[in-house]
Parts: sequence; structure tokens; C-alpha cells
Amino acid sequence: EASYTLVKEGVLTNVAELGFSPFEYIDEDGNTVGFDVDLSNAIAEKMGLTCEWLPNQAFDTLVPTIKQGGKADISIAGVTITDERLEDVDFSDPYLNSNQALIVAASSSYATDDLDTEEIQIACQTGTTGDAWIQENLPNATRVPLADVTAGMMGVSTGSYQAMVIDLPVAQNMLAQSFSDLKVLEEIPTGEQYGIAVSYDNPGLKDAINDALAQIEEDGTMDELKQKWFGT
Ligand code: ARG
Repeated sequence: EASYTLVKEGVLTNVAELGFSPFEYIDEDGNTVGFDVDLSNAIAEKMGLTCEWLPNQAFDTLVPTIKQGGKADISIAGVTITDERLEDVDFSDPYLNSNQALIVAASSSYATDDLDTEEIQIACQTGTTGDAWIQENLPNATRVPLADVTAGMMGVSTGSYQAMVIDLPVAQNMLAQSFSDLKVLEEIPTGEQYGIAVSYDNPGLKDAINDALAQIEEDGTMDELKQKWFGT
């Protein structure tokens, strides 16, 4: 038996930003749903726990919340494992591969190189790997960091911004669901891996989560969840 502490007895408490479809979002009935929600429930079940999701928090507060402790045990929120974040929190084994996408209006004739200029406004979600990608690769563009992914896409749709950079699976999902007037101009092969953020102060929890993840991979649950949410 791995030993670990929990914020609330019998409960795996997760903190996330909830505007990241199909990983975590609020459906028409007000329920928090998505791939990560199902995965967190499956992990909790393997651990003999239930899972609770805290109310929405801005993405750039998730790693600090886990680092600080006391409020949430984990953050499963499509969080990419990065060296910078590993300075503050530990991560489970990776559970999904991802890349970035550069989104523009479907009617636009931009090439990626056209975007590296001050007159171009490029939206991103604050503190994400997409945000960092813009700073490194389109340093002359006017970067517009936003709390909410949908607000960025709306802005590209209405012409307030010329582009947005966000995780490819989210771009594909949200364009297909709600933004048929936008297109993916470029798939950016950043080679990211999503992991579950946990505190360095709770190493038994990381081990227990990795055990649960391994079972979920082995017993076919992971394949079922990918089929359900991505159709692949
Ligand atoms: N994978 C990207 C990152 O880690 C974006 C994650 C955004 N997640 C969210 N729930 N809004 O920076």
C-alpha cells in the first residue's frame, strides 16, 4: 500500500481550468465533463477513492495551487509536463501526447511568417505552452494572453485578433463544435505530453496515481476513453 495524504479523506481533489474541450468543460446541463474528468474518475476508482473537481481556476494558477498544497491533491487539466513546471511540482507518467495549433479565420490568406509583426494580434491562454510558443517563435507579434480559450477564438472570429495558438486537440474539437469560420493554419509539432501535477511533498500519491494509470492502460480503459472523446 502506497501511503499518501489527501486534502479530504476518501477523495481525490482536482483543480483545473474548465474551458478546455474535450478535456474539461461545462456542458449544457452545467456538469463538468471531458476526457480528463473520466480519466480522473477511473484513477480515483482504482485507488478506492472518489474524485471531486474544484470550481474553475485560471490555468496559470494551477501549478502554484498544487505547489502550495492544502487545497487540491492533483491537477489534471491537459497540463503539459515542462522543465519549468517540474521546478515547482512533480508529474505522473504522461497520459497523452499533444501538439500546438495556429488558428486563423478560414477566409484569411495568411502564411505563418506573415504573422511575426506588431500589427498582428495573436491570442493564447495565459501561461500555457502556446503562450510560450508565441514568445519564442513570433516574438514581434502582439501577444494577447487571455484567461479563456473561447474568448480567444471569438476574437479571431470577429477580427479583433488575427490568430490564436492553442493545443491541437482542443483546436480541432472547438473548431468542429463551434467555430466553423476558423481554420488550423499550421499544426506545430511541439511533441508535448500531458501529465498529472502532484506535490513533491506527497511522493506516495504520485506512485499510487502511476499504478492506477498503468492499470487503466492495461485493462483497456484508456483506449475506451480515447475512443469516446477523440474517436480514435
Ligand atoms: N497543454 C497546455 C499547457 O500545459 C495548455 C493546457 C490548458 N489547460 C486548460 N485546462 N485550460 O500549457
